[in-house]
Amino acid sequence: MTAISNEKRDINIISSPLQGFTDYRFRNLVNQHFGGIDTFIAPYIRFQGGMEIKKSYKNDLLPSHNEVKNLVPQVMTRDSKELLYVADYVKQLGYKELNWNLGCPYPMVAKRGMGSGLIKDFDKIDSILQTVSGEADLDISVKLRLGYESNQEILKLLPVLNNHKIKYLIIHPRIGKQLYKGDADLEMFEQCMEICDLPIVYNGDIDTVEKFVYLKQRFPHINHWAIGRSVISNPFLAGMIKTGSCQLPEDWTEQFKSFHEALFQSMSESLSGPGHLLIKMQSYWEYFSQMFSDAHKTYKIIRKAKSIDAYQQGVANILKQK
Ligand SMILES: Cc1cc2nc3c(=O)[nH]c(=O)nc-3n(C[C@H](O)[C@H](O)[C@H](O)COP(=O)(O)O)c2cc1C
Repeated sequence: MTAISNEKRDINIISSPLQGFTDYRFRNLVNQHFGGIDTFIAPYIRFQGGMEIKKSYKNDLLPSHNEVKNLVPQVMTRDSKELLYVADYVKQLGYKELNWNLGCPYPMVAKRGMGSGLIKDFDKIDSILQTVSGEADLDISVKLRLGYESNQEILKLLPVLNNHKIKYLIIHPRIGKQLYKGDADLEMFEQCMEICDLPIVYNGDIDTVEKFVYLKQRFPHINHWAIGRSVISNPFLAGMIKTGSCQLPEDWTEQFKSFHEALFQSMSESLSGPGHLLIKMQSYWEYFSQMFSDAHKTYKIIRKAKSIDAYQQGVANILKQK
């Protein structure tokens, strides 16, 4: 553990967004109950015809809804006008940075030349960044994968990105087509570090303190680490990485219980009706269940609940048994 404690001042943790999960209610509560995260990136804003930002995205970014110190809005687009529109919108809300998503792997998105589907179109990215850097009055950062079809796509893009004023790149070393299958490609991440002049953030599969220590030793010059799914499946992880502890706190179930109650309360105030609330809370347990010794059985207990009462009873039983 000395590797961590000696260098912990250099460790900066970013919460990598999960659309549908890491909204402002979740972010505020994770921050209040667990700490350890330095920056949160909000799930991407996406236009669906017309230059209008959906109310749910607006709500998510309202400064009065957000208690975390550093929040970075994100956009997914292949259109410089849309990017500039969002840049202007978030600037007016007081944000100083906008993250551009070039990483989304979903075929519906990628086939339309967005997210990881845009990586191979480096001329387009170049021209969008040229327009944006001349006109947008805030920092731009980029989150990307290695490509959509091939891990070689990023090698052509990085020299283009090197010519732009980009605050940092968050690289998730998989290709879009993989979705989340297979291992993160650490050799390719290393190659990217060699040819990239911009600050790089590592993202992908940081799910235990041991994994983090391994990655930190392998990439000693990386100081910024983005964690996605494990912010939900182990909300203690960022704090554990910061303190160098490989163990969950002794009273973790009590702490988790109090977080869960607050999340349930917050969701029940804003969602429409018990059906919606039940589905939403059940969806979190796909991740929460991984903290428990039998994750499969735990998730099954939650999934079979047909009412809010049954759900609450299921949660109580899980926390009692651990
Ligand atoms: C359900 C789901 C939704 C996601 N939504 C976003 C998103 O809105 N923006 C984004 O940049 N990444 C999104 N991601 C990707 C994660 O932020 C992260 O990059 C990815 O899961 C790899 O990191 P991890 O291994 O730490 O989870 C999403 C991932 C999942 C599973």
